[in-house]
Amino acid sequence: AATTRYEAENATNVQGVVEANHPGFSGTGFVNSDNAAGPYTEWIVRAPAAGTATLALRFANGTATARTADVAVNGTLVSAGRSFGPTGAWSTWATSTLTATLRAGDNTVRVTSTGAGGNPNLDFLEATTADAPATEYQ
Ligand code: GCU
Repeated sequence: AATTRYEAENATNVQGVVEANHPGFSGTGFVNSDNAAGPYTEWIVRAPAAGTATLALRFANGTATARTADVAVNGTLVSAGRSFGPTGAWSTWATSTLTATLRAGDNTVRVTSTGAGGNPNLDFLEATTADAPATEYQ
């Protein structure tokens, strides 16, 4: 298995801006979505082979209330209203991990806010994917 990090600031962000005013992020910043239901961050995750993958979302939520989001892979909901609880500060980052089935090649992973607060601040998605099968030469 191989793990690849995909920064949120390089993803497609709808109703969200890249910021860097809370430390501890990876890359050049993180994504601060609008405080509303509907904003999303969508990554393209490349898998060498079809199979189960681990998706780790790094986030911060400096409020006292959980933020919720739908996680969809290739347009199919894999985690509805997923809860991203308070991390204590906007500069304190946590990871939320789920598993999903990916196809070989490109996959979309979209995190869409379902609550009035919007998404938590999103730092990156790390995908641990199945290896491509060994090639047999004859
Ligand atoms: C604050 C914080 C932002 C965060 C926002 C929110 O403004 O500085 O980084 O995104 O709260 O409530 O979502």
